[in-house]
Amino acid sequence: MSSLSKRVKTFDAFPKVDPQHQVRSERGGLSTLLTYFFGLLILWVEVGGFIGGYVDRQFEVDRVVRSDLSINVDMIVAMPCEFIHTNVEDITRDRFLAGETLNFEGIHFFIPQNFKINNPNDFHETPDLDEVMQESLRAEFRQGGQRINEGAPACHIFGSIPVNQVKGDFRITGKGFGYSDRLHVPLAALNFTHVIQEFSYGEFFPFLNNPLDATGKVTEEKLQAYIYNAQVVPTLYEKLGLEVDTNQYSLTENHHVIKLDEISNRPQGVPGIYFRYEFEPIKLTIREKRIPFFQFVARLGTICGGLLVAAGYLFKLYEKLLVLLFGRKYAERGKEKKDGGILNQGILKMTDE
Ligand SMILES: *[C@@H]1O[C@H](CO)[C@@H](O)[C@H](O)[C@H]1NC(C)=O
Repeated sequence: MSSLSKRVKTFDAFPKVDPQHQVRSERGGLSTLLTYFFGLLILWVEVGGFIGGYVDRQFEVDRVVRSDLSINVDMIVAMPCEFIHTNVEDITRDRFLAGETLNFEGIHFFIPQNFKINNPNDFHETPDLDEVMQESLRAEFRQGGQRINEGAPACHIFGSIPVNQVKGDFRITGKGFGYSDRLHVPLAALNFTHVIQEFSYGEFFPFLNNPLDATGKVTEEKLQAYIYNAQVVPTLYEKLGLEVDTNQYSLTENHHVIKLDEISNRPQGVPGIYFRYEFEPIKLTIREKRIPFFQFVARLGTICGGLLVAAGYLFKLYEKLLVLLFGRKYAERGKEKKDGGILNQGILKMTDE
């Protein structure tokens, strides 16, 4: 047994300092403590990061052009349903008769609580991954195409309109404005005051926030045009194998009042509410990622090694500084050597002289 331990000792590859030459110092102890402390701190942060994963964002070119996308609307316009005309037109010249898939329900106009009225809605934040995962309850509007109580003073418009994923325009105007209809709404009946509960592109996730949600506009003008320009970015959220495929948009607004032509007394434009949209040809993917276990271990090893080396250098630097600033005597104070070292004797001699 003892011969084995002897053999192992001779096999020891690391050079050792004889105990009589070793030096203990208070500062050395403190620096070791500090190194341990930072080491533990880094370990804690790293392990936390390993367990919790990290959020990775990537843009890539969106190769799929979907033709089964929808616009989800839930809003109130301060005008009777019977006067309202809706349609969608896009650059492929496809027309979607929004009126056939949306629901129109006559109600009294009101502004729900906490709605932002007449604010520019040009602020948008990409929703958080966890938030999206919690709130991504998918929903569908009930069967479209219903028309109820069309004479009531305001109109609740809700439903989904299937569209192509290309640039287009969803508009709400008065009947007979900008196109010919047997009914031409009298100017005096126009009121494009509106509140929006929901306006989104893609699948309908009612709890996800969009820039237009819970906003509205109130106007005293009959010939008002509200123009919302949306830049839509397809966004995919991924966590723990779950995927939520959404679209977020940023918004610019542009509103004006249309003038009457002085001679013909006709409006020089079409009043209404316009939702113009354009899809970005990129896709944003936000996913939670985890580094593989071995990579994590290797990383920890690298960090710890680096920390030790850096701590060693720092300590040496500190000692050198002390010597430079206060002289060798001060720097060696508090050091305690085991007896019998050659160096020790040397120093004793030096101090004797
Ligand atoms: C439109 O309706 C809203 C709400 O009832 C009202 O405050 C506004 O003055 C009306 N505007 C016009 C042009 O009649």
